[in-house]
Amino acid sequence: MTSSEYDVLIIGSGAAGLTAALTLAETKKVLVLAKGALNSGSTAWAQGGIAAVLEPGDTFESHIEDTMIAGAGLNRRETVEFVIERAPRAIERLIELGVPFNEEGDALHLTREGGHSHRRIVHVNDATGWAVQMALLKAAEEHPNITLLAGRSCIDLITGKHEERYSGSGRVWGAYALNEETGRVETHTAHATIMASGGAGRVYQFSTAPKGATGDGIAMAWRAGCRVSNMEMMQFHPTCLYHLEVKNFLITEAVRGEGGQLINPRTGKRFMEFYDPARLELAPRDVVARAIDAEIKRFGLDYVWLDISHMGADFVKHHFPTIYEKLLGLGIDMTAGPIPVVPAQHYTCGGILIDLEGRTDLPGLYAAGECSESGLHGANRLASNSLLECFVFGEAAARHILDHWHFFDAPPPIHPWDESRVTDSDEEVVIKQNWTEIRRFMWNYVGIVRTTKRLERAQHRINMLGGEVGDYYGHFRVTTDLIELRNLLQCADLIVRSALKRHESRGLHYTLDYPELLPEAKDTVLVP
Ligand code: FAD
Ligand code: SIN
Repeated sequence: MTSSEYDVLIIGSGAAGLTAALTLAETKKVLVLAKGALNSGSTAWAQGGIAAVLEPGDTFESHIEDTMIAGAGLNRRETVEFVIERAPRAIERLIELGVPFNEEGDALHLTREGGHSHRRIVHVNDATGWAVQMALLKAAEEHPNITLLAGRSCIDLITGKHEERYSGSGRVWGAYALNEETGRVETHTAHATIMASGGAGRVYQFSTAPKGATGDGIAMAWRAGCRVSNMEMMQFHPTCLYHLEVKNFLITEAVRGEGGQLINPRTGKRFMEFYDPARLELAPRDVVARAIDAEIKRFGLDYVWLDISHMGADFVKHHFPTIYEKLLGLGIDMTAGPIPVVPAQHYTCGGILIDLEGRTDLPGLYAAGECSESGLHGANRLASNSLLECFVFGEAAARHILDHWHFFDAPPPIHPWDESRVTDSDEEVVIKQNWTEIRRFMWNYVGIVRTTKRLERAQHRINMLGGEVGDYYGHFRVTTDLIELRNLLQCADLIVRSALKRHESRGLHYTLDYPELLPEAKDTVLVP
């Protein structure tokens, strides 16, 4: 296949993309494209669970307040209300699809995570994402109106400038995608397109995110003309396993929610009381990650300890079977002693700017999930609000398309991908070198604690690499590695430019040059 035409094209087969697909498939023919395997996004890796107000002692107001406090007031309250009020229904739909959430008596078992003032996280043991991904995939695979194509790396969105009769309009008609098996570039057109391509975590050297989280959708949308916002708000999870071979294994926040304590290995003492005496280990992530970073730097440590062994072996094995088994395989028994942990990049709070219907700036293009910035997370995402956002906005975008179908014209004839001026790459090492370089300077200069000087250093390197990567892209046939490198660099640029624009410390953006909080919370919006 070198081209296809569907009613709606969805880029991404995670929680956001498949939720949208299942809603649209009621009446429309949908094509879902995924880079690599259909379960290669972050969704399948989610551990902790999904936040929702489900028990009588809890309220929407409390979940809204917790979200706004974690987000340091940068959240758009309208969005926060919109998402949180739809959470119970989203959980109901997942149950209908067969997600086997843990139960306690007649009710769902609710765990607790940092920043939440109630137990409100539904979960499937400590591997919630896998169960969700499998249930959504099964439903999508069984649906006659949904076609799923794995191994397709989308390169760029198709807009007016790709029409055979050039209109130059910003209208989006689908995407060009590299078939990873054949090496050919395919043209996939549609009346409407939904970007659901996940985050950009792999722009950092240490990240809990899967390999493909290279910000492709954010970069594609930016190049096509969409605004992006709050890209400086990169979330670092406090507790990623410290291990010389296994670099990105998350230790869920629910371990702290169920009694896990953070300990300085040098002093043997808990340290959160020095940083947040009221909330201790359950302070929001930005606070805990900065505290660990400070302890590591102050004492010259490689890691700190996370200890839940005092809860007893049965309790630990029952609540965290996946983590227990994984660690045991690496020679760490979490029922008998502490786990070495370090912070690592975890979530992209910023992204393609969308409204409550998932609409972007470009007609015909919607976005949902981690690639988007809906206003839910503000300056720091509250734990387990992210899958929820995928379900709510995946459905909102799909509903808006269905309700306004009469506005969506059929795509015009589109130029096929032009490969007449490129040859096969002669030096793959260039890609590896640049990729490593970006991830290292982003970690060192644009990490948990920032300064203007470090940000400017990063900007300087991005500018230099821009010429080199652009030149390479212009001369050689695309590969997934090259597509990802180009997008990583684009996202690094958006992150650094956004960080340089924010002259305060708010939420995840902490800079020694502007340690104060400004009185007014303002989004950092970049315009292409
Ligand atoms: P993803 O699930 O990341 O899917 C992205 C899709 O886009 C994939 O199918 C990918 O192949 C495709 N794609 C990407 N680029 C391209 C391209 N160029 N062309 C074609 N397809 C492309 N959140 C919670 O709420 N609760 C949790 O407990 C939780 N735990 C987490 C644990 C870990 C280890 C991680 C990394 C994240 C966790 N999160 C959690 C965050 C949450 O998992 C993600 O934010 C969420 O799953 C994102 O879903 P998504 O649908 O937006 O994207
Ligand atoms: C975790 O389980 O700690 C991750 C939860 C999240 O990212 O929301």
